[in-house]
Amino acid sequence: GTTLGASAAEKGRYFGAAVAAGKLGDSTYVGILNREFTSITAENEMKMDATEPNQGQFTFGNGDRIVNHALGRGMKVRGHTLTWHQQQPGWMQRMEGSALRQAMLNHVTRVASYYRGKIHSWDVVNEAFADGNSGARRDSNLQRTGNDWIEAAFRAARAADPGAKLCYNDYNTDGVNAKSTGIYTMVRDFKARGVPIDCVGFQSHLTNSAPGDYQANLQRFADLGVDVQITELDISGSNQANAYAAVTRACLAVARCTGITVWGIRDSDSWRTGQNPLLFDNSGNKKAAYTSVLNALNAG
Ligand code: G3I
Repeated sequence: GTTLGASAAEKGRYFGAAVAAGKLGDSTYVGILNREFTSITAENEMKMDATEPNQGQFTFGNGDRIVNHALGRGMKVRGHTLTWHQQQPGWMQRMEGSALRQAMLNHVTRVASYYRGKIHSWDVVNEAFADGNSGARRDSNLQRTGNDWIEAAFRAARAADPGAKLCYNDYNTDGVNAKSTGIYTMVRDFKARGVPIDCVGFQSHLTNSAPGDYQANLQRFADLGVDVQITELDISGSNQANAYAAVTRACLAVARCTGITVWGIRDSDSWRTGQNPLLFDNSGNKKAAYTSVLNALNAG
């Protein structure tokens, strides 16, 4: 293939990008998006603060702009994210206990129902595990409603959109470490008890390289019977092009790695200001990292 999307498709995968609704009028941006990518994730527009700014009042305008752009061009949509400890609307940040639990489940139900049939994969829960060596859950208002909040969210999402793949998504989980092992243990438990989970997202915000056991880590999750996806890839540093190739090869080597999403299009679109971690430069030109990914997709 001659584009990321076409080359990934030849290997049975999608290749996606995070998109901001406010940039859909930028012709350079949209030109690259439509040429190269087969999946879109809304960078912010489908988060809790964006979709339920006031309790019980849902706003889907910017999310719809992104979803319609994708579906109108045959692209998939990754839904991001039904629950998260960050980017909660103010009213939710001030809640606790059973009222918060009920509000969270109502949010999952309403948003997943609204988009039913349009979302390829939902990040049902984002970043619920702690950094460091504990392997434990992150403390948050949602976690304090009870350890079963994650499975309750997954059950509500399944009921609302039975056709969507339901993912758990996190960062610093890209190698075998205490955090990824905590998640691994949760997924294994969910599969054993019939809690509906279909996929695990590895954000992969990296510097210079992927962990040496990146592929092995993806594989151990796949072996639990879930798909794995690279969901927010960006890589800074002088070894960028090689590292992008290594991540791409790792996904292709794991049968259940179904796709890769980069977290933005041009370096100037990245949340990592000044780090130039993406595949296109500020003017929209292909970087060495782009060629490296394309060649890796086309190899073999
Ligand atoms: O919406 C306001 C806008 O009204 C205001 O004018 C503007 C000025 O500062 O801020 C806008 O909100 C910002 C929003 O991005 C949209 O640009 C927020 O301040 C800013 O915090 C927010 O950052 C996003 C961040 O998530 C929030 O935590 C980044 O764009 C987004 O790339 C980033 O994405 C996350 C994933 O969702 C989860 N994994 C990590 C990843 C990187 O942090």
